[in-house]
Amino acid sequence: MRIALALVVALIASLTVLDWMAPDAESRRESAVMPLESGVGDPGTGAHLFEAECVQCHGADLKGTQEGPPLIHPYYRPDHHADLAFYMAIRDGVVQHHWDFGDMPPVPAIDREQARDIVTFIRQAQREAGMLDDTGSAPAR
Ligand code: HEC
Repeated sequence: MRIALALVVALIASLTVLDWMAPDAESRRESAVMPLESGVGDPGTGAHLFEAECVQCHGADLKGTQEGPPLIHPYYRPDHHADLAFYMAIRDGVVQHHWDFGDMPPVPAIDREQARDIVTFIRQAQREAGMLDDTGSAPAR
């Protein structure tokens, strides 16, 4: 009987601890990875940040260099690489898988809000290049 009581107390205690931990862990994961609402970043700031941190590999016109692939490319449409892929590329880097340039290193200088600005800039450039329709999604093929 005493053991059963101890078990119940332990269970309640652990549920309380889990309840206390879960939202925190969740929000930490979200703030680390999940995109902020897309399309509302500042593309001008994004362009400057891209110039500083990405242009050496992805090119001034997003058309690629010897070091990295073009981002104006069907691979990087939102239906193939959603905004989340951009946030993760910036935070964690990318293991080579589509091209032969090698891995992309993480870009620790860029935080989540700056990543949103960069993604807004890139999606705008993709739209101007005719890759997207006005809703921001890829046009029907
Ligand atoms: C040192 C070179 C380098 C820099 C700097 C760099 N990248 Fe990359 N990036 C690469 C390479 C190489 C790949 C291709 C990896 C593959 O798919 O083979 C890549 C891939 C990507 C991808 C595709 C991710 C995926 O899931 O396939 C995105 C998005 C991206 N880069 C965005 C950025 C942004 C934004 C910046 C600046 C904040 C940046 N990159 C800076 C080299 C670079």
